Amino acid sequence: MKSLDDLEVAGRTVLVRSDFNVPLAEGAHGTRVITDDGRIRASLPTLTHLMQAGAKVVVVAHLGRPKGHPSAELSLGPVAARLSELLGAPVGLGADITGPQARAMVAAMEPGDVVLLENIRFDARETSKDPRERAALAAELASLADVYVCDGFGVVHREQASVTDIARLLPSAAGRLVHKEASVFADLLAEPARPYVVILGGSKVSDKLGVIGNLIDRVDRLLIGGGMAFTFLAAAGHPVGDSLLEADQIDTVKGLIEQARASGVALLIPVDVVIADAFSADAAIQVVPADAIPDGWRGLDIGPKTAVLFAEQIADAATVVWNGPMGVFEMAPFAAGTRAVAEALAASNAMTVVGGGDSAAAIRLLGLDEADFGHISTGGGASLEFLEGKTLPGIAILEEH
Ligand code: 3PG
Repeated sequence: MKSLDDLEVAGRTVLVRSDFNVPLAEGAHGTRVITDDGRIRASLPTLTHLMQAGAKVVVVAHLGRPKGHPSAELSLGPVAARLSELLGAPVGLGADITGPQARAMVAAMEPGDVVLLENIRFDARETSKDPRERAALAAELASLADVYVCDGFGVVHREQASVTDIARLLPSAAGRLVHKEASVFADLLAEPARPYVVILGGSKVSDKLGVIGNLIDRVDRLLIGGGMAFTFLAAAGHPVGDSLLEADQIDTVKGLIEQARASGVALLIPVDVVIADAFSADAAIQVVPADAIPDGWRGLDIGPKTAVLFAEQIADAATVVWNGPMGVFEMAPFAAGTRAVAEALAASNAMTVVGGGDSAAAIRLLGLDEADFGHISTGGGASLEFLEGKTLPGIAILEEH
């Protein structure tokens, strides 16, 4: 894969695909506020390199899934403002994507300038399943620039116009972020130092079946928390009350438990849980053994005994990968499990990799120091697909260059 160092960019227009799909909340007077700018900060090494090298930098990104329908809610306006603050330079925001306004802005750029095009998914061709539609948009994007840099690690698992099709039309290279992320995950798949421990959480087990199946033969220990743990508890024959449950996955999960046993992999599920009588920070709360969740109650975090057990499993590991929170960490009464796992990773001497937007956001929200973690990935689905051993189209196309 070519890197930025292989490109001649001085005076040339470089189109950079970044992933600025950041969480937004409603602020005062109907404004939208970015609640976690990790993905924007992660784009800075590539953008500052290109600016300093005298390139005209045109950034393409998406926000949400507007499916071809432009809307003020999903405009990249707040992102342009934050990016400008972080770069300490103006960032022009195109009102359109490849239309006359964007073209005029790009034509007026000087070396070192940065322009952000409006949400690329406002154009339905970006995510079209029809390769001809994608190719048409890619050609319009390519006509704006001389060189393409892929730096949106969070989207490299997507076959989309600004991710893959454009790389067929322009000289292309990986940006700093994609280069770093791809090499961390490739190392994890190749020869992880052992013991190799993976902690998975988050709400849906169905999103993680592929990764669990692929990891079972590679890891030494697999720790399961978060909402998905209740499908494991149900598969182990325990009542789960009103907890999240994917009943149609119970048989598949039983198969995974069996596969782990046959492979000699330690698969740990919660031994206790924090339960509540409603999905609310004000709900009544108790801690119960994982096989004793009463009807009418739901598990919203791993319990303290599980937190200690998981921390012990992390303490002597040489490689730890963590993807997905252990509970509803956004509500203080259910944050302790996620905090315990995050702190165990921060204290560990292992190579630690945190994947998935929620776990990365949890680290920042809980006030932990990002520097205590080996690598905090910007990829959610992309990092999971990497761990599944899948070919990621956005990486594969760069490897052809
Ligand atoms: C993400 O948030 O994981 C990426 O930005 C990809 O978004 P998508 O799942 O909507 O393609």
